Amino acid sequence: MKIVITGGAGFIGSHVVRLFVTKYPDYQIYNLDALTYAGNLANLTDIENAPNYTFVKGDITDAGFLTEFFAEVKPDGVIHLAAESHVDRSITDPMSFVMTNVVGTVNLLNAAKDAWKGTGGAGPPVRSAFDGKRFYHVSTDEVYGSLHNADEFFLEDTSYDPQSPYSASKAASDHFVRAYGNTYKLPVVLTNCSNNYGPNHFPEKLIPLMIHNIQQNKPLPVYGKGENVRDWLFVVDHARAIDAVFHNGNLGETYNIGGFNEWKNIDLVHLLCDIMDRKLGRETGTSAKLITYVTDRAGHDLRYAIDANKIMHELGWQPSLQFEEGLEKTVDWFLQNQEWLDNVTSGAYQGYYQEMYTNR
Ligand code: NAD
Ligand code: DAU
Repeated sequence: MKIVITGGAGFIGSHVVRLFVTKYPDYQIYNLDALTYAGNLANLTDIENAPNYTFVKGDITDAGFLTEFFAEVKPDGVIHLAAESHVDRSITDPMSFVMTNVVGTVNLLNAAKDAWKGTGGAGPPVRSAFDGKRFYHVSTDEVYGSLHNADEFFLEDTSYDPQSPYSASKAASDHFVRAYGNTYKLPVVLTNCSNNYGPNHFPEKLIPLMIHNIQQNKPLPVYGKGENVRDWLFVVDHARAIDAVFHNGNLGETYNIGGFNEWKNIDLVHLLCDIMDRKLGRETGTSAKLITYVTDRAGHDLRYAIDANKIMHELGWQPSLQFEEGLEKTVDWFLQNQEWLDNVTSGAYQGYYQEMYTNR
């Protein structure tokens, strides 16, 4: 089985690549990534020489490249994670989200459809050309919008109501994936996951940003009043869920992924401050003094909360870690990987890695 994982040099993608490369030595795993500011091959140094792993630098907005790549590799499966992923960046530069998340996804759908020679249109569905193939689209809970009542959860059939340019672009990509499943009978499956955290998280996102700033004694910027709620899942548990859905999920279906683990931002930041005080040998309460309330994110979604019962009951997936344990592991990873953090925050890594890997 040859599987193309897009965005495999990013935060979640690198954990998915690692899981598939190590768990399935008989599979050939192709990590297709453009190495944007968020892509970092240092996330994968432990498996970069594995015989069943190949890195390919490529941009999903380039349809011609994708056609050639699919013709050459002839993949059996695609796990699509490549995206622009940060909400704040989508507010300042929406078009790059349209290009990668929407146009890039449609390019990838076309490449898979053409390479797998699906037929569609009028008449009975012809699935045979797609036998054994699978196009897996990784999406987000943000497409469902913002919850305002404490007893509400996102279900797989909750109507889409995206509120940010990021979530609108992910919603559009989800619609295209389902449309290709319906129109061309492309064998698609989708998941919508809640907020991830863990090792290799890019330090523009809440948890790694706070860890970094606490360490550096810098202000901890909490948007608005810190009342917004997010539902956090350890990244390795997301990768395990992707494994379960890729292999056992029903074609055409959507599965929500989450850990029933809601936290108000301000409570989470306090918890992180306490953990960091202990790890850094600071007096309890020292880091919390760095908390600084700043102007709220424009259009800030109030609450996300995933109902993950479908994947739990149908596929037997469960999160493996309690949040406090996962957060301790995450803090330990960042403290033990200072060089990774320094390279990412200095911005020097990108040119270095591009130069090093462009001609592989
Ligand atoms: P990330 O920003 O850390 O990584 C994105 C990766 O995609 C990078 O390696 C980047 O180089 C690559 N990429 C970007 N544009 C590309 C292009 N045009 N062509 C090829 N590669 C390109 O993102 P992440 O947080 O790991 O998220 C991965 C996926 O999971 C995204 O689709 C995101 O929407 C989704 N998701 C993320 C979360 C989360 O909490 N981070 C939760 C649910 C779903
Ligand atoms: O829900 C899944 C989504 O989670 C993914 O689809 C996105 O790719 C991912 O980036 C994440 O989006 P969020 O906007 O929820 O994550 P972020 O880490 O940017 O912010 C988490 C919360 O913390 C949010 O309510 C905004 C707030 N925040 C964030 C930052 C960066 C702050 O208060 N201060 C900050 O400095």
